[in-house]
Amino acid sequence: MIETEGRMYQDLTKILVTREEIAAKVDELGKKITADYQGKAPVLICILKGGAVFFTDLARAIDLPLTMEFMAISSYGSATKTSGVVRVVKDLDNDILNKDVIIVEDIVDSGVTLNYLKGMLGHRGAASIRIVTLLDKPARRRVKDLKVDYSCFNIPDEFVVGYGLDYDQKYRNLPDIGVLSPNVYEK
Ligand code: PRP
Repeated sequence: MIETEGRMYQDLTKILVTREEIAAKVDELGKKITADYQGKAPVLICILKGGAVFFTDLARAIDLPLTMEFMAISSYGSATKTSGVVRVVKDLDNDILNKDVIIVEDIVDSGVTLNYLKGMLGHRGAASIRIVTLLDKPARRRVKDLKVDYSCFNIPDEFVVGYGLDYDQKYRNLPDIGVLSPNVYEK
């Protein structure tokens, strides 16, 4: 239990990534993407809901005439998730034909979701597709050949919440990323 901060912090065993570390990485990544996409106007795609907090910070760290799109997906259930199929709950508002697409995720775990998304967006004729993630859990990867182009933090296989990531839809508004106490989800 962390006693120095507000109520939500009492449900954490530790803070894994601080808000200062996140801000520094987001700034660095924004500069790198700005340099890599000079002369281009990429489409930044936010994968709801987990990616939302990271997305809004990252977008403001990129100095390019980018556009924003939002997509919501859900897996069909554990059996189908194994086969790599996800359902689009909210699709893009505009087409991405010949566009340079950057998919922004909060976390890559098995890689199944992003692998499916990348394939689907590729079929829509994007000029290029790159993947950005805030967190990467390499130990959990099942799609071994998934290329993650920009990753901020590699983390161990622990139950993390905050900065967009939830447990039971809560803790997304925690400014830091922490490890959730087993007392919370074993109740
Ligand atoms: C999380 C995350 C990715 C996916 C990663 O979303 O945002 O979309 O799981 O897992 P994978 O690499 O094993 O496919 P989640 O289903 O928790 O939804 P949320 O973003 O709305 O919280």
